[in-house]
Amino acid sequence: MLVGIVGWRGMVGSVLIQRMLQEGDFNFFETRFFSTSNAGDKVSEKIKFKGSHILADGFDQSALADCDVILTCQGSEYSRKMFPTLRAKGWSGFWIDASREFRMEEETTIVLDPLNRSSIDSALKTGRKVFCGGNCTVSCLLMAIHGLVKDNFVEWVSSTTYQAASGGGAKHMKELLTQAGKIYKQVDSLLSQDNSHILDIDRKVLDTQKNFSGNEMHCFKVPLSGSLIPWIDQDRNDGWSLEEWKGDVELNKILGSDKKEKVKVDFTCVRVGIMRCHSQSVILKLKQKLDIEDIEKILDEANPWVEVVPNKKADSEQFLSPLYASGTLRIPIGRVRRMKYDDSCISAFTIGDQLLWGAAEPLRRMLRIIVDQNFPKDV
Ligand code: HSE
Repeated sequence: MLVGIVGWRGMVGSVLIQRMLQEGDFNFFETRFFSTSNAGDKVSEKIKFKGSHILADGFDQSALADCDVILTCQGSEYSRKMFPTLRAKGWSGFWIDASREFRMEEETTIVLDPLNRSSIDSALKTGRKVFCGGNCTVSCLLMAIHGLVKDNFVEWVSSTTYQAASGGGAKHMKELLTQAGKIYKQVDSLLSQDNSHILDIDRKVLDTQKNFSGNEMHCFKVPLSGSLIPWIDQDRNDGWSLEEWKGDVELNKILGSDKKEKVKVDFTCVRVGIMRCHSQSVILKLKQKLDIEDIEKILDEANPWVEVVPNKKADSEQFLSPLYASGTLRIPIGRVRRMKYDDSCISAFTIGDQLLWGAAEPLRRMLRIIVDQNFPKDV
């Protein structure tokens, strides 16, 4: 089987390659690496794989059409341009896509196999070939509350997110750090004086934040370091951001409940000055009253990655933290408790690495599902 990979040097793509190397995935197929800007260059020697080490042109239709599977992290624009062109030329391979471009199309399965392996299997059996990764916040949330949604305990979910800079991309992460560095430089000398006054420091910080140049906030448009932005992605002009809208439609599409009784979903999506983990403060309305210990057990046993953190100060500080989840597949969920004024609702707090379960890992696993079953492309 020949697998074409496009967009593998970007942030999600690099995390994907790291995971594929860790899992030995490259032993199971031949790989052709594509580039949309550096065709003809060599693939890094750090990546051990079977296939040519010369980068193919990401716009070369016949090189792409040789592939049984194309996995792209190149972004929506690339998918919009190349997928229909390849299909029009008769290519019938599998398209695995990190972008949102085709997520809501009828033919597409949004992949999160610990939750929707049966939808993936039936899509494969019926000849569907488009598999897209979901929105990061939705995938991380579903991994966390898997146990409760699996057994249909959830009537509605309301989540307020704390989304990391990584959700915007590599440049956004650098911008966050550049802003932090600039702020620090302005107050460095005051911080080192024992008797400096906090209000002087505070005023300098605020002055710096309010006077970032256009370049210093090119990505986020407003200061993020030491602040937050309660709006992510486009304005749908109906009171919801595109990110919040995705929460509802994608979550239900993954669960297959878009066609039956939906889980009602409400998101408030907030960007915070964190590097790469998305956190969420969640309220769940349950269809029946369950003991908190039973809820924790249901959550904990749902999949191998979710980790219930006891609702205690020390545990929460240590394990319910972006630092604990960052760079790992762990999905900690904690602060699980019944709401004071409505005991049919519970609240919880959960975290997931936006680049792993939120992006690369479901795609990597989808590729292995196809490869391990040796699905031919021409069926
Ligand atoms: N839209 C997400 C964010 C990342 O901006 O954080 C990709 O799912």
